[in-house]
Amino acid sequence: MDCASWSGAPARRSPTLENVTHVLERPGIVLGIAALVLNEGATDENAREVIAAAVDSGVVALDTARAYARVDDDGVGERLAAEGRASRPGLPIITKAGHYRAGASAWHSDGSAARLRSDAERSVELLGAPLDLLLLHRADRVDDLEESVTTLAALREEGLARAVGLSNASVELIDRALAVAPIDAVQNRLGLGVDAFTEYHHCRDAGLDFFAYAPFGGPRAAPLATRVPRVWMLAAARGVSVHRLALAAVLGALPGLWPVIGSTRVESVRDAMVAATEEIDDELRDALLGDLDSRGVPV
Ligand SMILES: NC(=O)c1ccc[n+]([C@@H]2O[C@H](COP(=O)([O-])OP(=O)(O)OC[C@H]3O[C@@H](n4cnc5c(N)ncnc54)[C@H](OP(=O)(O)O)[C@@H]3O)[C@@H](O)[C@H]2O)c1
Repeated sequence: MDCASWSGAPARRSPTLENVTHVLERPGIVLGIAALVLNEGATDENAREVIAAAVDSGVVALDTARAYARVDDDGVGERLAAEGRASRPGLPIITKAGHYRAGASAWHSDGSAARLRSDAERSVELLGAPLDLLLLHRADRVDDLEESVTTLAALREEGLARAVGLSNASVELIDRALAVAPIDAVQNRLGLGVDAFTEYHHCRDAGLDFFAYAPFGGPRAAPLATRVPRVWMLAAARGVSVHRLALAAVLGALPGLWPVIGSTRVESVRDAMVAATEEIDDELRDALLGDLDSRGVPV
């Protein structure tokens, strides 16, 4: 499978969906590395193995952040992503600014111009290249969203980031940002069978790419099978995991959406990556849409 690399030009929005230039060149699955850094007992050795397995099996981008840090090492999350990219130069890395680790169990948000600029400069240093996509990590927690978005736009203009956007943003925050400057993408939680598709549709209408984090609901969620039972039954009949089939259905049913998953084992990341090549038929698409409908979160 080809790698998803940058075309080199900054992503640019178009008012018509047909002509939208996406941040990533092709659909597929993004590996988030938060748990690989932050979980109790997480080791760099396991993180390297899981990231290498994802890169080897067709991941379209890695997702990291300034906040994916250890108390004594602010750069670990971005360093591990950069190491992972070494075997596939050009693999996009998403990172996030304005949210940082302040102690053993403390993270602070700061969307000021000074913080975002110093975060972006540190990320460029750690990743060794301009940032493929720089997100304001906690758009929902900054004091002055307009200042944050103005700064992101300036960082893109100066070439530190090729694309910029928001994370954890409501429709209202997305619109406030768009009133200040064009943005390229949004990354929000979209647990299947739990979260609504409101921001996804809003992003589609505005020509923004949507990165859906924690599609399985994260490590403490109810089993995925209970939230998408029709997909689970199909998966059982076809002899594949419900995680793989759910991801395949998402990719088939929701254009302009990239799932950001958090596997922490080589087996689960390899299993999930096969979803990008899984055959998507009407039966599977209908199963997912039916499951989401009956959970009260229709697409
Ligand atoms: N922007 C933000 O504020 C924000 C916030 C939270 C998360 N994120 C991003 O989203 C990423 C994913 O978040 P998450 O870890 O909460 O989400 P998730 O992918 O919904 O949940 C991860 C859980 O799913 C399991 N899993 C994954 N693939 C599987 C498979 N094929 N078979 C069986 N189990 C599978 C994992 O198991 P194993 O661990 O056993 O592999 C893990 O327990 C994070 O790493 C981060 O990059 C962003």
